[in-house]
Amino acid sequence: MSFIVGIDGPAGSGKGTIAKRIANELGLINIDTGSTYRCVALEVLNQKVLLNDKKKIINIAKNIQIDIQNKQDGDIVFLNGKDVTKDIRLKEVTKIVSPVSSIKEVRLIMVELQRKFAQGKNIIMEGRDICTYVFPNADVKIYLDATLEQRAKRRYKENQEKNIKMTYKEVLENIKKRDENDKNKEIGSLKMAKDSILIDTTNLTIDEVVKKVIEIIKQAGEIK
Ligand code: DC
Repeated sequence: MSFIVGIDGPAGSGKGTIAKRIANELGLINIDTGSTYRCVALEVLNQKVLLNDKKKIINIAKNIQIDIQNKQDGDIVFLNGKDVTKDIRLKEVTKIVSPVSSIKEVRLIMVELQRKFAQGKNIIMEGRDICTYVFPNADVKIYLDATLEQRAKRRYKENQEKNIKMTYKEVLENIKKRDENDKNKEIGSLKMAKDSILIDTTNLTIDEVVKKVIEIIKQAGEIK
């Protein structure tokens, strides 16, 4: 048996930060599904595969090995045994990850992996399609949102802290483009599940959002 908290929302809505905090506070395993798509995108760059070569990209998704290890101060992501935690956040990866994740076959392979990660565990899983597609029967379903400008501001600040060089305008344009792309996928597109609880984080602090989500989880019942 497992207890599943799904958190969906667009880039910069706060999913990553919130999920990590809640995982630490409630002792849940945190799975950032975006990092699985980022691993595929990184390998596409490593192998110098063109974005229109769907067949090769699907082959990459089929053959790579992805592992996520939860640590108190952040996750470590392994791609074919190598620590790629930093590399998957590179600007070049961010630019191509949305089109890579739009390929249906890539999604099917990643969703299977994400479900496997969750087997028999109490987890908090964040992404775009967790409550609609990956775990439609999740015990708790949350959708985080915020204005485009606020999301871009957060991501810009986060990038500066991580020494990722992108101007505010570049970040804003990238998020806008990814929103568009993420909402129009054939499967697993970004949308709120009918039974998800919406939290607009635009004017909320991280602590306020964490508190709200923990209250919702506690109302949903015992974590087994
Ligand atoms: O959350 P993120 O920015 O790391 O996600 C990277 C990309 O992966 C994002 O542009 C959309 C895609 N993604 C997805 O399609 N489905 C998910 N469940 C998670 C991420």
